[in-house]
Amino acid sequence: FEYAAPANEPVLNYAPGSAERAALKKQLAAFKAEVADIPMYIGGKEIRTGKTVDLRPPHEIKHKLGHFHMGEASHVKSAIAAALAAREKWANMEWEQRAGIFLRAAELLATKYRYHINAATMLGQSKNPYQAEIDSACELIDFLRYNVHFLSEIYRQQPASAPGIHNRTEYRPLEGFVLAVTPFNFTAIAGNLPTSAAMCGNVVVWKPANTQVFAANTIMKVLIEAGLPDGVINLVYAGGPLIGEICFADPHFAGIHFTGSTGVFQTMWKTIGENISKYKSYPRIVGETGGKDFVLVHKSADVAIAVTALARGAFEYQGQKCSAASRAYIPSNLAEEIKSKLVAELKTMKMGTTEDFSNFINAVIDERSFDKIATYIDNAKKDPTVKIIAGGNYSKTEGYFIEPTVIEATDPKYVTMCEEIFGPVLTIHTYDAEKFEEIMVTVDTTSEYALTGAIIAQDRYAVELATKKLVNSAGNFYINDKPTGAVVGQQPFGGARASGTNDKAGSMLNLYRWLSARSIKETF
Ligand code: SER
Repeated sequence: FEYAAPANEPVLNYAPGSAERAALKKQLAAFKAEVADIPMYIGGKEIRTGKTVDLRPPHEIKHKLGHFHMGEASHVKSAIAAALAAREKWANMEWEQRAGIFLRAAELLATKYRYHINAATMLGQSKNPYQAEIDSACELIDFLRYNVHFLSEIYRQQPASAPGIHNRTEYRPLEGFVLAVTPFNFTAIAGNLPTSAAMCGNVVVWKPANTQVFAANTIMKVLIEAGLPDGVINLVYAGGPLIGEICFADPHFAGIHFTGSTGVFQTMWKTIGENISKYKSYPRIVGETGGKDFVLVHKSADVAIAVTALARGAFEYQGQKCSAASRAYIPSNLAEEIKSKLVAELKTMKMGTTEDFSNFINAVIDERSFDKIATYIDNAKKDPTVKIIAGGNYSKTEGYFIEPTVIEATDPKYVTMCEEIFGPVLTIHTYDAEKFEEIMVTVDTTSEYALTGAIIAQDRYAVELATKKLVNSAGNFYINDKPTGAVVGQQPFGGARASGTNDKAGSMLNLYRWLSARSIKETF
């Protein structure tokens, strides 16, 4: 059937006094009043091992939200077995039937569970209500609906026939199971990676980040309520290396859908390579692995646009988006104005818990992350070649709070201009406004990543030049906007180089990776 491109899910704004604000507050209070006991889901059964890990809001670490049950090697093996047992029926189900399940899940998330998924994301991952709404409600709903649309387009693509010959292409799922490994920072990505593969008829073992389990549990419950058959997606909690070791040694391993760090992805790829002769088919390896995203401001820029792109692009969700602006190049003619307006803008951003809706900045995800970010800030404080012009303070007494921090570096290759920090730290470098060509070379060669980037300029020649020269520097390139917030169906998302395989999330390109085509020729 043909499923036309849907409208993007409208974003609720949770304005003071609105019914949606009251409903979200009520759900936050309900989650905080109980201690959740979160099982794994294997073959449709809830599995509790008694070996639990506590879940606490990153902004309120003394409060226990719940705990989840950790699995061992035997659970990973039963997740694979359950997936393979479910495979034949699922792969052969009419795709319209499969699509119905994911469209129903989208509907449930848009209505009955909207506040559940948002409150779970706000508490579990420390997102403010607006960031939760655009991620865990709208983007996840959009992924589910748009992927049905993209698949309907793919299935309709058929080859030419000729007199006496009938040709057709059959788009089969992969022969085996897919492993989905998902990150903490977007509930939408956590939902998209297992469901996009499953929608194509694949069976999945899903391992989310430990710090995203609270929302992952809600996604799984919604999928079950939407009618997902037992064993199609199996949600397991166990150590990443253990899961990898077992899945990659299995002859039925058919692919990995991953979002996480470059280091982990490369290790996985090597292990898959070492095991290559064991597999029935060559596994599909799809990964999105981070960024060191830039904002390049031209001397012709509108200063207000530049300041907003920097403030929002770098500090929404505490800079923990793989798309977040983390290095900025500002021209000497506008440098003082941009810096002072940026510092003033950051002073308006309140920091605190997610339950107080006036807070723009919440906590970073966990202590490991906090310590890593704090080390970069401490090193900058000690370095006479750089200056901290905003923020720089942090505390982990109540939660993992770090002020939005701006480092000014004269050396465009200063460490925080090059390395991914994944936190609320932006480094800016002022360049000679007349040396635009030279600074573009620096932008391109400073980082191994190539995920997102932005050019801020009014001069169309500068826009054209940057678009051409920075062709390999960013998979998502923005003109006069912040480099975050790709919308499903509008800006397919992903990058190349060390940022991943660039199989754009939310596009046909991505879905093709979960299909294996058979060409059938019939002669009359
Ligand atoms: N898709 C997100 C964004 O564009 C990042 O994963 O911000």
